[in-house]
Amino acid sequence: MTGRLVRAVAPDAPAVRILVDGGEVTAYAGESVLVAVLAARNALRRHEFSHEMRAGFCLMGACQDCWVWLADHSRVRACTTEVADGMHILTSTPPGFAT
Ligand code: FES
Repeated sequence: MTGRLVRAVAPDAPAVRILVDGGEVTAYAGESVLVAVLAARNALRRHEFSHEMRAGFCLMGACQDCWVWLADHSRVRACTTEVADGMHILTSTPPGFAT
């Protein structure tokens, strides 16, 4: 699958296995959740109110356009959160999460 981003340099960091909405994605240690998801998919998430597709905006932790959820339903900014092996990322608001 081709994503919105293409890594310009082959990562020399170890590969880590993450899940995005239950699908396995290969990421590399040290990269952000946003890079890992956008290297694999065309969008990061659906906006919780408009439901339009979003890919982040500022990429530096300021705009809050990149909220995603982890399997424990904690919410993180994808652009400032590093991937971790076994991380399960949810790109839609989990049921019962107050927006
Ligand atoms: S893209 Fe702006 S806070 Fe993450």
